[in-house]
Amino acid sequence: MIPVLSVNNLTKVYGNKKVVNGVTFSLMPGQIFGFVGPNGAGKSTTIRMITGLTPITEGSVRICGYSVSRSFKQAIASVGAVVEMPQLYPYLSGMKNLKLFASFYGKKALNRIPQIVKLVGMENRINDRLSTYSLGMKQRLGIAQALLNRPKLLILDEPTNGLDPNGIVEMRNILKALAQKENMAIIISSHNLAELEHTCDVIGLINDGKIIEYKTMKEISELVESKQRVQLMCDFPNYAALLLKKKYNLPSKIVGNSVVLPLRESNLANVITYLTHKKIKIYSIKKMQKSLEELYFDLLNSKRPSSSII
Ligand SMILES: Nc1ncnc2c1ncn2[C@@H]1O[C@H](COP(=O)(O)OP(=O)(O)OP(=O)(O)O)[C@@H](O)[C@H]1O
Ligand SMILES: [Mg+2]
Repeated sequence: MIPVLSVNNLTKVYGNKKVVNGVTFSLMPGQIFGFVGPNGAGKSTTIRMITGLTPITEGSVRICGYSVSRSFKQAIASVGAVVEMPQLYPYLSGMKNLKLFASFYGKKALNRIPQIVKLVGMENRINDRLSTYSLGMKQRLGIAQALLNRPKLLILDEPTNGLDPNGIVEMRNILKALAQKENMAIIISSHNLAELEHTCDVIGLINDGKIIEYKTMKEISELVESKQRVQLMCDFPNYAALLLKKKYNLPSKIVGNSVVLPLRESNLANVITYLTHKKIKIYSIKKMQKSLEELYFDLLNSKRPSSSII
């Protein structure tokens, strides 16, 4: 099976600055790729190169096997994209907007409109004027528009920007349905890793134009789990630390009258039983879990690439 998208050594230079620097990744059907990074990291520029909105300085993009630079028409035929705010007509209804865009693609796209409207959950408001829509509805209509040509690859640049938690969950459900039911490959960019936690299969962390981490969501969850700490308030913390080092080879820190140690939930019961057996009194157990957001900052700070000035 060939990848829906294959990005190889993609690079963009503006002036004397490499704003995208050797980005490489690929995407198979049904995969949701979360493209995460802080403001100015290079997400939109990468997406603009993938969709042919800006020329590629170096490297290549293939969509369903077609090169975006050499066979643009065939490559882009498989893409639906919402880059920045969707371009829609505020004085027309949602339905009229969709019909207008569908008319560019032909009868098949027009026939697909009711199904797409249902998919993005807009049945009740589709005949209202766009100017009366909330931000979340506009975003959903933008996705509907991007789905008209039955894309194999859907690209959404910051689709959850400005959405409330409810809107984010709705967006997540729409994207998951598209990946699972239509086997669509999806790229979604965001500056918030936690927001993508329940949506994406793979995460690419970009900073200063470079992908600094490329991990499956499962690997990210394992990383969060491995950073979990437990604080045990007890009567002899130094002795407890010594025992735990000897028995389980657990490195621990003494903080006041407590020991802080890396521990998985599954091992907690054994450790408590052991310490109690050794006559150590445990007064409290506190989980000190790193949030996904803290992990994100740790990763960004630990892998700051050297200057990307040419
Ligand atoms: N047309 C342009 N000319 C010069 N520099 C540009 C241009 N477009 C983007 N840049 C620069 O490229 C870098 C990457 O910008 P980009 O918009 O790709 O970041 P981003 O990750 O999408 O950020 P955000 O989260 O703010 O949307 C920034 O330093 C930006 O100033
Ligand atoms: Mg951007």
